[in-house]
This record gives sequence, structure tokens and C-alpha cells, in this order.
Amino acid sequence: MKKMTRQEKYRYIEQALPGELELLEEKVSKSLWRQSYHIQPPTGLLNDPNGFSYYNGAYHLFYQWFPFGAEHGMKYWFHTTSKDLANWEEVGIGIKPGDVYDSHGAYSGSAVVKDHRLHLMYTGNARDASWVRHTSQCMAVMDEKGSIVKIDKPVIPEIPPGYTDHFRDPKIWEVNGEYFCVIGAQRNNKTGCTVLYQSKDLIDWEFKGEVVTDLDEFGYMWECPDYFEMDGKGILLFSPQGLEPEKERYQNIYQSGYLLGKPLDMETLSFKHQPFQELDKGFDFYAQQTTETPDGRRILVGWMGLPDLEYPTDKEGWAHCLTLPRQISIKDEKVIQRPVPELALLRKEEKNVNIKIDNETKQLEELHGKAYELFCEIKDLKAERVGIEFRANNSEKTVLSYDSVNNEIILDRSLSGQPLEKKNGCIRRCSFKAEELKIHMFVDVSSVEIFINDGEEVFTSRIFPSEDSEAIRFFSQNGSATFRALKWYY
Ligand code: FRU
Repeated sequence: MKKMTRQEKYRYIEQALPGELELLEEKVSKSLWRQSYHIQPPTGLLNDPNGFSYYNGAYHLFYQWFPFGAEHGMKYWFHTTSKDLANWEEVGIGIKPGDVYDSHGAYSGSAVVKDHRLHLMYTGNARDASWVRHTSQCMAVMDEKGSIVKIDKPVIPEIPPGYTDHFRDPKIWEVNGEYFCVIGAQRNNKTGCTVLYQSKDLIDWEFKGEVVTDLDEFGYMWECPDYFEMDGKGILLFSPQGLEPEKERYQNIYQSGYLLGKPLDMETLSFKHQPFQELDKGFDFYAQQTTETPDGRRILVGWMGLPDLEYPTDKEGWAHCLTLPRQISIKDEKVIQRPVPELALLRKEEKNVNIKIDNETKQLEELHGKAYELFCEIKDLKAERVGIEFRANNSEKTVLSYDSVNNEIILDRSLSGQPLEKKNGCIRRCSFKAEELKIHMFVDVSSVEIFINDGEEVFTSRIFPSEDSEAIRFFSQNGSATFRALKWYY
């Protein structure tokens, strides 16, 4: 596919050629892979979730948006809202780049409510005539009518000594009227880390220093950090770049995960933590962000995609979507992620099936479909391998299986449909041991999110099957198992 030139990529929406966006919209509307219940861009490319918050009676979720095609270029914040975390409405552009400090993009950031206004803190990306990057942290304020106005100067104009211009993605939170933010950074020695700032008013920010972890050399950049506390523990989420694959771990080209530890010591910035763990075992998950609901639940949304990979919809003028919102909890020193219960609002017709599968593969006509929620319990497990083939036809299928000999869960998208980039691989596995399995899947036109045993493991992936790949099959190999499935059409 022909790549855009730098001039084409770094244009503002007002600089669209006559009819350009209309043509793109038409092209996008013909795509067979448009999602039915996920947040996706109207045209162009979506990446990180931004400014996820609850304000003025609604959830607000923005995303990084490049309007002109499936490439990374001039980034806007696109605004969506929801009353219930299940049904989302497009509002339109939230933050426009174009001032001196964000002339080349309004990059990722977060939101906090202060004085009845939603404060959006983001990274201003600017380039000079020699294409040298200038990074600052900026603020925009949204009022109750939804109008968003930028504060005219960056609130953190400089990068502190010791760090390169890869310094971005402020995540703000409030404790007793004081504000804190973590920022993703790269040290001058080209290793990644996160730094902390503090403010009383969201305008004057004091650099507190680097969050002290055990990970001195852990990739070359940490993007999109997020910090919160839960059950007396501290959790630092981030997306490190530059980790080498290690057995079943770090298989994606970039990672996303967390450090779980004692609450961050705000004086010494020491963070005592367990080893880094990946949040998602699927192929397409990155740059997650959390917020807290009015009833105190911690909810996470991620970008269902990765940078630097091509996807089949690129040639159709659009790319990527966000994940469904997930509710976070901690169990046995591990972060558990469950789909938010509000998603039940999307359920329409319900079907159920109870069946014993004995060394065979059975197609279940009553369960077929393209956009649905499936909850399947697998019990009386006496087989060496059990699983589900879905979005299947005669030649295509995506396969989730449990291997009870080697104790692992495997997601195989090698026959899912349109091939994806080889460098990201076709199979993901993760060690898992269980007597019974609960598989909770959310299938949309071109994606799947799979929650195993109440959110102990999650696999998130794009898939690009043919339109007629609607079959579901349950299977067992070398033994039997019972499958009890409930399915809701969306
Ligand atoms: C992560 C990221 C962020 C940056 C944004 C730009 O995907 O690279 O670090 O702010 O995307 O779109």
C-alpha cells in the first residue's frame, strides 16, 4: 500500500482536499470488517484511549485519532460518551492540535474533574523546521456544556534533565485535593521509566523524580503509564517497548502490563513490587488507561491494536478499535479483569446449549453468528484437549483450546481469515491449570476478547474472517467433556 508523505500525514482536518473526507467515509462504509459494538474511528486510525473519566453524569472516553487514513500522523483527540459503559455515542473532535506547542499532534493523556470542570492533560507534540521534536505537557478544560478550551501555555513546558524527548502520556489522579501525574519517559541512556509530578492546582507542576522500581533496564521506552491503589496495594500499569520474547511471554512486538506492589512511597518514590506481568495474552492490546466509576470500581480500556504493524483494513482507510471496558480486581497477587456487568445491556436474543462432546468436533447451528457474547462452561474434563472453533466456515476458523496435558490455553488465529503480519505471529499460549473452564467470549465483526475463569487470563485479538464465517464448533480430543453454553446476540 502506498504510504503517505510527511506533508500528507501532518495536515489539519481543515486542510483536507475538496471531497477527500467524503470519499474516505464512503470507502470506510464499504468495509466488511466494521465493528458492531466496539468504539472505532469514523475514518482513519484510532490508537490509545485518552481522558477516560466520569463527568457531569456520563462517562467520557477520548481516543487518539488520525482522520486521513490508517497511518500515524497528525493526532487529534476524538470524543465519545456513554451513560452506561455499554452504549457509546460519538461526540466528535475533542482536542485539536495546531498551537505552537501541539503543532504536530495532541498526544495521549488523561482527565480529572476539578471545580466542576473536566481537565484534560495531554502531551503536545511539536516539530521544528529540522523535524526536531519538542514535547510538552498541556491542559485543556471542558465545561458542563462540553465545550473544550485549551490553556494557552503548556503546564509542563520542559523535559527535566536526564530524559530524552520521548516524554509523554500524563496520567493524573487526585488525593485529598492534591494532584499527581505519572509520565512515560526515556532516560538519556535509552532505557524506559516513569516519572512523577505533583500539583495543587493542575497548573503549576513540581517534578518529584523518577518512580524507583527494580526495572532499571526494561525496554527503551515506557508509554502510557497509569497508577492507582486498590485493596491497600499500588498498581503501576505501562506499555514498555523493546522487550525481547521470553518463552510464552512478550510475544507481541510491544508489551502492556503491570507492577503490583506496596503503595508508592510519595516521599522517596520507592515502589516495591512483584515481577512485571502482562495484562493480556492476545495479539492486539496496548496503551490501556483506567478510570474510577462513581460507585468506586476501577475500569480499564485498551487500544485493540499495536503500533508499527499493518492490518487488513488499512487499505480501506481505517484501522483499529478500543477494547470493551473491563473491571479490575486483585486476587492472589494478580490483576483480574472481567467484562463490566453493564455489557449485559447489549444482549438481545438468548440461546443455550448443553452437550457432551466425546472425541469429536460438533457444529452447533443454533449458536452461529458474527457479533455475540458467549459464555461456555466446560466440565467433566476427561479429554487431552478441548476447545471452541468460532468465526468458522469450511476453510477458516479461530481456535481457542485448553491442553490439559501441557496445562496451557492456546489461541490460534493462523486460519482466522485475512492473514495478519507474520512478525506478530499466529499463536499465543499461556500456562494455565484448571479442572473446569469458564470461557467468556465477546465476538464482534473483526475481533474477539476472551476472558478465562472469571478474568484470570484475557486474550484480545483482531481477526478478519470472511462474511460467511459464522459457525461455532465445540471439540474434544482423546476423551470427553461437557459444554454448557449461553449465547446472546448483540
Ligand atoms: C502509544 C503512543 C503514545 C503517544 C501516542 C501518539 O501508542 O505512542 O506514547 O502519546 O501513541 O499517538
